Amino acid sequence: MAGMANEATFPTGDIMKGKRGLIMGVANKNSIAWSIAQQLNAQGAEIAFTFVNEAMERRVRPLAESLGAKIIVECDVLKDDHMESTFATLEKEWGSIDFLVHAIAFTDKTALEGSFVENTTRQIFKDTMDVSAFSFVDAANRAARLMPKGGSMITLTYLGSERTVPNYNVMGVAKAALEASTRYIARDLGPKQIRVNAISAGPIKTLAAAGISSGRHMFTFNRRAAPLRDDTDVRGVAGAALYLLSDLGLSCTGETLHVDAGFHIVGMPDESAELA
Ligand SMILES: NC(=O)c1ccc[n+]([C@@H]2O[C@H](COP(=O)([O-])OP(=O)(O)OC[C@H]3O[C@@H](n4cnc5c(N)ncnc54)[C@H](O)[C@@H]3O)[C@@H](O)[C@H]2O)c1
Repeated sequence: MAGMANEATFPTGDIMKGKRGLIMGVANKNSIAWSIAQQLNAQGAEIAFTFVNEAMERRVRPLAESLGAKIIVECDVLKDDHMESTFATLEKEWGSIDFLVHAIAFTDKTALEGSFVENTTRQIFKDTMDVSAFSFVDAANRAARLMPKGGSMITLTYLGSERTVPNYNVMGVAKAALEASTRYIARDLGPKQIRVNAISAGPIKTLAAAGISSGRHMFTFNRRAAPLRDDTDVRGVAGAALYLLSDLGLSCTGETLHVDAGFHIVGMPDESAELA
């Protein structure tokens, strides 16, 4: 299946040669961030990784080391001391960085089903915003201080920010905040030659996607209604990341780039889409 292209090979070259950066959000080999890491590595980038906690370290460390990573640090974005030490380590080891990948989101499972208005408590709303939107603002601010010669940052978002999607609920609201934050960060950091963009990916089978009720319906509906009549291939997301994070993406900032087999342009699916 196209969405499961994590065993795929990625086009090699030297587009990212001489560039160093941080990738936040690898949990396992199905993570979107892991495909992005492989693509950037295949083009010569040197990458530092974070993992969220000790349990995740067991999965992330071997993956990161397989790409020759030397900086692999624990970073729960809800903890200021973790954020502080992550960027202090980068400054100590590298002095500066060229790119940042933010691929982090989380909400309580109870909020990813049923009624948005009934299931979103004040605490869930705040926590979801904190992990899934504010963390990009925080990381971007810290990363920018390590980009004296300019750089590029991306985050990952989903169409549930622009349209309602069953069960996506409070995460859609957080993604709307994330996309708006991307534009404001892009405005602030533009004069420093730092580009800031979001990739809006279609459904891809990952740990995060597994938490959404009726995920199966989401995949089927997208595949049948999308102009390309296919799942979103994670290699396309990794390719978009390469474009945005490398000099190929010059002049592109504040953008939300959809990589979703074209699903976002469809107002009404064709009769032949057989959605039932
Ligand atoms: N899978 C999809 O269909 C899809 C589509 C569009 C956008 N996205 C977005 O892509 C990004 C990556 O998700 P994924 O689908 O690869 O799933 P994933 O589960 O592999 O990645 C989510 C990551 O968030 C991290 N995380 C959660 N809470 C954290 C915290 N407090 N501190 C630090 N890290 C934390 C997890 O450890 C994990 O690495 C997310 O922002 C997600 O919303 C996913």
